[in-house]
Amino acid sequence: MYDAVVLGAGVIGLTVARELHSKGLKVAIIGRDLPEDSISFGFASPWAGCNWHSFETDGTSPAAEWDAITFRRLAKLAQEEPDLCERIPFFGVWQNPQKDGNLWFKDLVGDFKQIKASPSQPLPGNLPYGHSFSSYVLHAPNYTAYLGSVARSLNIPIYRHRISSLDEAYDLPGIGKTNLVINATGLGAKSLIGVEDDKVYPARGQTVLVKAPWVRTCYMHVEGFMPAPLKPGEKPPPEPAYIIPRPGPEGHVVLGGTYIKNDYSCLPSISEAERILRACYNLCPLLAGPNGKSWKDIEVVAHNVGLRPAREGGARLELEKRVVGGRRERRGVEPKGGNGGETRTVGVVHAYGVGSAGFQCSMGLAEKATELAVGFLDSQSTRARL
Ligand code: LAC
Repeated sequence: MYDAVVLGAGVIGLTVARELHSKGLKVAIIGRDLPEDSISFGFASPWAGCNWHSFETDGTSPAAEWDAITFRRLAKLAQEEPDLCERIPFFGVWQNPQKDGNLWFKDLVGDFKQIKASPSQPLPGNLPYGHSFSSYVLHAPNYTAYLGSVARSLNIPIYRHRISSLDEAYDLPGIGKTNLVINATGLGAKSLIGVEDDKVYPARGQTVLVKAPWVRTCYMHVEGFMPAPLKPGEKPPPEPAYIIPRPGPEGHVVLGGTYIKNDYSCLPSISEAERILRACYNLCPLLAGPNGKSWKDIEVVAHNVGLRPAREGGARLELEKRVVGGRRERRGVEPKGGNGGETRTVGVVHAYGVGSAGFQCSMGLAEKATELAVGFLDSQSTRARL
């Protein structure tokens, strides 16, 4: 019997499974997509940018704590797996002044500098406001696959299986009964029966993957990234642009991006791709190479679209108790095996809705999800040991 079954083999499900295992729990993972499915549409993880650049504005929020824990833990990953995770210089730039003075992660990153552009110190894109620090970039598809291989090496099986209802997960064919499920289904939480969270929405992100081994700095011009509805008379924010070099020998760089709520289309738009290439070239002309003359000289590798698993109000991390089983007893028919029989109280730890922050919050979220999971199992007497 497994102590826990994790639903979802993306960065959240895989990281939570590893964390549960580190506390001595016996875990299995099921996913519609497997960690190696790097070109599966609707599987969010492989399409991520992906860098540590917290979007939290309140440093005391739970999500800021998840981001901070992850930032600290990424140092070890960068040391052990430099082709998956690397610390590089970051520039954040803005058209409009920001309240940088209070940016909560200033002290966390350690080398934060606020910069106002001047003739002697122009900022990328000739924008007036900016800051610099150093942070981590990750190779999203390879890191996701790596987490899969780590899980398997720990004897955490990963099954490709698609369920329609949360309750199915408590007694799956071939896996058996469990009393605890981790719901890391991302966008799936919108349609999974028994969850059906209507706060969950896709946030379509389009990026252009390019080859530019010379660019080893991350640039973020994201003040218009998650636009709030405009107030009457308000000017629209500048179009977002970001440049995220990927670790690894390919010399690839992810150029972004868009954040379009409730757009499920996984087809790239060519006009959007052109906008992204122009805007990123404007931030960093070196993208086109040392001899490049315009954005048209940028070497495009792929046009990508991912659906961020976002949620109004932010991610959900919560333990819920449920009652399953007993379905046939109501008809007075005793089951000969199968799903029926006595009712039992089970738990689900919801861990979804991370939107843009999946990788950067993954390790902190996994720690906290594991605390909830262990607390639930300790409150039951049926906990199986490895
Ligand atoms: C994204 C990166 C910036 O969500 O996190 O596109």
